[in-house]
Amino acid sequence: MKVAVVGATGMVGEVMLKVLAERNFPITELLLVASERSVGKKMTYKDKEYTVIGLADAVAAKPDIAIFSAGGSTSLEWAPKFAEVGTTVVDNSSAWRMDPTKKLVVPEINADVLTKEDKIIANPNCSTIQMVLALSPLHKKYKMKRVVVSTYQSVSGTGVKAVKQLENEIAGIEGEMAYPYPIGRNALPHCDVFEENGYTKEEMKLAREPQKIFNDKSFSVTATAVRIPTSGGHSESVNVEFENDFELAEVRQLLSETPGVVVQDNTATNTYPMPIFAHDKDEVFVGRLRRDETQPNTLNMWIVADNLRKGAATNAIQIAEYLVANKLV
Ligand SMILES: NC(=O)c1ccc[n+]([C@@H]2O[C@H](COP(=O)([O-])OP(=O)(O)OC[C@H]3O[C@@H](n4cnc5c(N)ncnc54)[C@H](OP(=O)(O)O)[C@@H]3O)[C@@H](O)[C@H]2O)c1
Repeated sequence: MKVAVVGATGMVGEVMLKVLAERNFPITELLLVASERSVGKKMTYKDKEYTVIGLADAVAAKPDIAIFSAGGSTSLEWAPKFAEVGTTVVDNSSAWRMDPTKKLVVPEINADVLTKEDKIIANPNCSTIQMVLALSPLHKKYKMKRVVVSTYQSVSGTGVKAVKQLENEIAGIEGEMAYPYPIGRNALPHCDVFEENGYTKEEMKLAREPQKIFNDKSFSVTATAVRIPTSGGHSESVNVEFENDFELAEVRQLLSETPGVVVQDNTATNTYPMPIFAHDKDEVFVGRLRRDETQPNTLNMWIVADNLRKGAATNAIQIAEYLVANKLV
């Protein structure tokens, strides 16, 4: 496969290269693409040096697959140009996720919707991916009615500028701000921009994307998204009401049998998911499983994953692997 990584110099792009190498993705030619600012910069993949190129040169090279993580406006403008020359684009931005003509895919849940005709495929939001992967076996078994999620999201979810802001604050250096306020020793109830309804865009992604991934509008999700000063890994407190009742032991069993999910749930040994354990791992970690004692058929859970891996790079590469394995590119 001739593969282009668009946004290769970014936070997700860097992890993308790491995961492509780890999984030994079948690359015959690799194009590392970024903005004009980075053209000419040298980068390494599997001990070989590459020179970063611009988007126009990458389109001209007609790659088989282009994995984008370069922001929504870059995707809106450039993904169709790649698609026109026959490239299949897997896009990490929010640009195409809710477009009814584009598929929104978490491979463990709905890779079977993909066809050869899909030239732009959307990767869901990082906080959505970890939540739906953990909820999928439970939705299948007990049928979700309503989900209330509060997130505790790491600064790496905002990109290199935000990681730098936190590092500068810790070092006592005044520098460029990615957020409107300091993030060290703080919690910002503000991820992405505010929408007219008073929610942030991140909260609305959590509300809308799960229905599309499960192809099911019979349940609803309401969210509060909070940025906290962790540098890697998003955490989520999830309260989910089902139509049917459950046994906690069965919930644990179902989750532990779900590919890509790891249960860490033992209060006797202080075992529960945390970003420091999830860091650099591909799995979604689930724990603090409790019955909500205030209403029937309702479960409380805590879900943690590395937002740069399963929340972005790993999920996108799993989509690409599915395309290759099923001869869809
Ligand atoms: N961070 C996460 O957890 C996460 C998770 C899921 C999805 N995403 C999405 O992935 C995308 C990238 O996020 P990130 O955190 O990696 O951001 P980042 O660290 O700021 O990196 C942005 C990347 O995009 C490139 N870029 C920016 N403008 C460009 C342009 N006009 N043309 C070509 N390349 C351009 C940058 O190149 P230069 O270095 O040349 O500026 C850089 O490689 C965003 O759409 C984000 O929403 C991020």
